[in-house]
Amino acid sequence: FIHFPWRDGELHAESVPLAWLAEEYGTPLYVYSETALRERYRAFDQAFGSQPHTVCYAVKANSNLSVLQALAQEGAGFDIVSVGELERVLAAGGDPSRVVFSGVAKRHDEIARALEAGIKSLNVESAAELARIAEVAQAHGVVAPVSVRVNPDVDAKTHPYISTGLKENKFGVDIATATQLYREAAAHPHLQPVGLDCHIGSQLTELTPFRDAVARVMALLDTLRQHDITLHHLDLGGGLGVQYRDEQPPAIADYVRTLVEAVSDPNMEIIIEPGRAIAANAGVLLTRVEYLKHNEDHHFAIVDAGMNDLIRPALYQAWQDIVPVQPHKTGTTAAWDIVGPVCETGDFLGKGRELTLQAQDLLAVMSAGAYGFTMASNYNTRPRAAEVMVKGEHARLIRPREDWPMLFGSEAACLR
Ligand code: LLP
Repeated sequence: FIHFPWRDGELHAESVPLAWLAEEYGTPLYVYSETALRERYRAFDQAFGSQPHTVCYAVKANSNLSVLQALAQEGAGFDIVSVGELERVLAAGGDPSRVVFSGVAKRHDEIARALEAGIKSLNVESAAELARIAEVAQAHGVVAPVSVRVNPDVDAKTHPYISTGLKENKFGVDIATATQLYREAAAHPHLQPVGLDCHIGSQLTELTPFRDAVARVMALLDTLRQHDITLHHLDLGGGLGVQYRDEQPPAIADYVRTLVEAVSDPNMEIIIEPGRAIAANAGVLLTRVEYLKHNEDHHFAIVDAGMNDLIRPALYQAWQDIVPVQPHKTGTTAAWDIVGPVCETGDFLGKGRELTLQAQDLLAVMSAGAYGFTMASNYNTRPRAAEVMVKGEHARLIRPREDWPMLFGSEAACLR
């Protein structure tokens, strides 16, 4: 975590002490490093060299407008899965002509808005969706740029909930169906096949599944050429993993080189949709210990962030490191279960963590920049955390903590 360094015995975000941010903005608090975000994006972008490419950051990983703005300034494209994400990209100054739209259930209004904004490609997930896109494009008198999301049926060897490229998943269509959909699209006056799309899963720590997926989609490209359908880009999705604990994910440069070599066509534009690999290790969640509590054989550190703030541990048994921001020697040394205030047994951030703790200690949950705030909820009527962006020695609030009017003001207005 080079952008979350230790200085004078305490953890910083770039040059700003996290303890100072907790004082200033309160906890729970998401803190992001703008330098880390930009560097990760650039690593993807530069690794492509002269190969035509677009790095479409997966907005779902972290959709704060200031995060999107920083990446838009770097020249990023965006992968969206809802019209809400499209509106965020536009509000942050993103370029619609560099946006690809993924997702299995695009509504009429979402398709219409995407066409109106002039996005790069709608990634089609079924025959029914292709028909709907054609209908909406016709009604608006435009030609819709489409790519078919192919399910290459490879095992991404990741958590079953985040593996998406197997036959049994709801995503994409099989290769035979894809050929048929391309022929239909090519023949339709309001559809233009522009690319081919696949995404096999998330938090991948090996390159082989990517290589296998590319091999399968390249074979499909050949088949399509025989039908006189030439595509302009190949979208290989997201999925590159990060190190949370002892995983050893491939370096960005090796991952990109693998894709470029497997595609082996210097004229083909390659699109990738990284989310986690850009944002995860660019953020932490700060939380304060409210109480220490000891049961028969368990030690609980009850903190002010819960599963509503960061659901990954509860939902996927995900492991994220938890470190005291200002470590000290006084306190109780034990294997702590770090648990939240929410009324659910599953409400934990980490279990059995060997730490020396006192009440009021400040903890940082590491690698929380992706799928942290975006998956947060208001369960237990808990306001969502504030978010802060740090760059060098400067910190700025990029989303205030929610207050009661934001939580239920609109409901209060409905009372009678
Ligand atoms: N493209 C598509 C079509 C996707 O479905 C996803 C993620 C991505 C790109 C970005 O994948 P990434 O580069 O971030 O791996 N909430 C889970 C992760 C869900 C990922 C869903 N799709 C988690 O917290 O681990």
